[in-house]
Amino acid sequence: QNEIYRDGLDGGTPILPTGMAALERLAQERLDSRAFGYVAGSAGTESTARANLEAFGRRRIVPRMLRDVAVRDLSVELFGRRLRSPLLLGPVGVLTIMHPEGELAVARAAAAEQVPMILSTASSHSIEQVAQAGGEGPRWYQLYWPNDRDLAASFVQRAHDSGYEALVVTLDTHTLGWRPRDLDQAYLPFLYGIGVANYFTDPVFQKLVGDPIGETNRDRAIAIWARLFGDPSLTWDDLPFLRERWQGPIVLKGIQHPDDARRAADAGMDGVVVSNHGGRQVDGAAGALDALPAVAEAVGDRLTVLFDSGIRSGSDVIKALALGAKAVLLGRPYAYGLGLAGQAGVRHVIRCLLADLDITMATSGNARVADLSPDLLTTAPGH
Ligand code: FNR
Repeated sequence: QNEIYRDGLDGGTPILPTGMAALERLAQERLDSRAFGYVAGSAGTESTARANLEAFGRRRIVPRMLRDVAVRDLSVELFGRRLRSPLLLGPVGVLTIMHPEGELAVARAAAAEQVPMILSTASSHSIEQVAQAGGEGPRWYQLYWPNDRDLAASFVQRAHDSGYEALVVTLDTHTLGWRPRDLDQAYLPFLYGIGVANYFTDPVFQKLVGDPIGETNRDRAIAIWARLFGDPSLTWDDLPFLRERWQGPIVLKGIQHPDDARRAADAGMDGVVVSNHGGRQVDGAAGALDALPAVAEAVGDRLTVLFDSGIRSGSDVIKALALGAKAVLLGRPYAYGLGLAGQAGVRHVIRCLLADLDITMATSGNARVADLSPDLLTTAPGH
């Protein structure tokens, strides 16, 4: 990571700001306002998105001295695979609204940095195209469990056939949240047309539409997509359906209650992502970091606990790991990097975050991310 200090960013001139807040401001300035609003926006009054950041602000790091941090080890082991760092790119749908190369550019950047990419079901490029772009890079697949069993089975099979290593099942978005920015800008009808690549290329979906999907029946295909997108009637009893069809690790995303985490373990799942979807689903939910300790306490010894919602800096990663996460997912920041500078922008965001993490590990007196524990943290005065 010292490369960034030695050589500067990309040969001396930073292509983009190094801080994630400045990156967001630049994205707001430069990107299409509706596309920016979709990425930046959250549910309702956006109080949960704010709570996500505030939860990090309340926990403070207590640096330690004289602990030999000359060599740092950022690596973690997840599901039997050693990863370079505890960072993954979380699933973000419809990425061609940010850049024409969308998920393909993200896959290439992630592979170059050896960071796993989690591909969304609602992507603008297909499971197979993204696998090809990512080459040897590690990749996971995120399932939005559709309202049709054969289609769900088909997505999962395609992901397996294309070398996706883990299945992330997002449970919190069977119903799209109340998102005023998108509603006020009448943006959703446009968005719907660009998150359908996996559906339109799917043999089961094609059969449901009947005719080959083209310009003439596109609107009808999108209407069918909208009907099938999510299944609000799912319960814990449905999980065996997936367990029987996916041999690799299954991770449930969107867990916020320790009892739900226990049920995930009882159902034979392998991991959970403590997440509130970046505040985009339930306005009024707690900051995601506040939900993490209880989940880690309940299932940390049975499941791999991951975290997202509000990661913006190296110290945020350290705080989440200290509170029991094994690794974290990044959302909006890499989407902004993509919008501002394509593949190079995504790489820039990954490199900055990992350099910040490495340096903050050193300055806080911690050599190994795998050894971080809650006693590293204190609570800000007044809380
Ligand atoms: C998301 N997220 C998301 N999650 C998921 O499981 N499938 C998806 O298709 C999407 N799509 C999506 C689009 C956009 C524009 C955003 C901002 C987020 C949620 C994402 O994976 C993650 O949970 C949050 O983004 C994490 O919060 P931060 O890092 O954005 O604060």
